[in-house]
Amino acid sequence: MKIVVLGGGISTERDVSLSSSRMIYEALKKKGHQAILLDVYLGYEGDYEDIFEKNIDWAENIGGITESNPDISSIKALRKDGGKSFFGPGVIPVCQMADVVFLGLHGEDGENGKVQAAFDLLGIRYTGTDYVSSALAMDKSLAKELFAFHSIPTPAGTHLKKGEESTQRVPFPCVVKACRGGSSVGVCIAHDDKEYQAALKEAFLYDEEAVIEQYIQGREFSCAVIDGKALPVIEIAPLTGFYDYKNKYQAGSTIETCPADLPKEKAEEMQAISEKVFSALRLKQYARMDFMMDGDGKLYCLEANTLPGMTPTSLIPQEAQAMGVSFEDLCEWIMELALK
Ligand code: DAL
Ligand code: MG
Repeated sequence: MKIVVLGGGISTERDVSLSSSRMIYEALKKKGHQAILLDVYLGYEGDYEDIFEKNIDWAENIGGITESNPDISSIKALRKDGGKSFFGPGVIPVCQMADVVFLGLHGEDGENGKVQAAFDLLGIRYTGTDYVSSALAMDKSLAKELFAFHSIPTPAGTHLKKGEESTQRVPFPCVVKACRGGSSVGVCIAHDDKEYQAALKEAFLYDEEAVIEQYIQGREFSCAVIDGKALPVIEIAPLTGFYDYKNKYQAGSTIETCPADLPKEKAEEMQAISEKVFSALRLKQYARMDFMMDGDGKLYCLEANTLPGMTPTSLIPQEAQAMGVSFEDLCEWIMELALK
């Protein structure tokens, strides 16, 4: 297969995406595919006509996440690079030459449906869910409304637009999140009014809307669904604090256990909820649902991730491994779903 792996972009998860896309690219090459890796934002400046023939690994310079502090300021600088199209030079023509585009993008403008809609119009095949479900899942506030409609348990909450007065107060401690973010960028736990105001300020750095929800004290889990069927549940236990950006990507800072040490019925309950979320949000191909379980064993679905991380510390690869599917086979499985 001729596969373009797209990574990078200009979301706050640019660095995560560079790492995911690099891993996916290497896996597909190992499987014998003619893959190329493109940074969607930087694009391809050369003669793209023969890119596959020369098998150009364009994004040789892209790195991975090596540090605990995401350099959000450099992403902001990229975003201010006014006037430049989201798609760098050559990206669309190169994608049109491929059998399929493997989306290694994360975060807004990549995971929110816009790329998916553009590709639909251009007749470009891509991995992952379509534009409507991408947009629904990316918007935590809309997703929670759909959860409520479908009786999917989720922490009680509300949402707030930048500049609006907060009327409905969620009791402390509460979690304040940028409405359409990822990797916990713009997410804070607030225990009092001072922290709450600071948390809102932080969330509004990244989005015009924030979600405020009840903080669930307990254990954290994740459960992927591929082709409508749930994978084994994974438990995530950060050594300190919550599962924030540092604990997500700094190796050794979180203990992950898969299959999770849970009674069979509890794991099955979470898998069933994951499949229900998959259907409620109209998801296709694959996604990963995140959960909290409180001290009484009650489950709460936090969100669905439609282009979940594929970095060395990511969760779906570990869930696949627990059912005997290697990272290379997982990438090929996802690619095959896109070609169905
Ligand atoms: N948003 C990150 C990439 C994840 O959910 O894995
Ligand atoms: Mg997420």
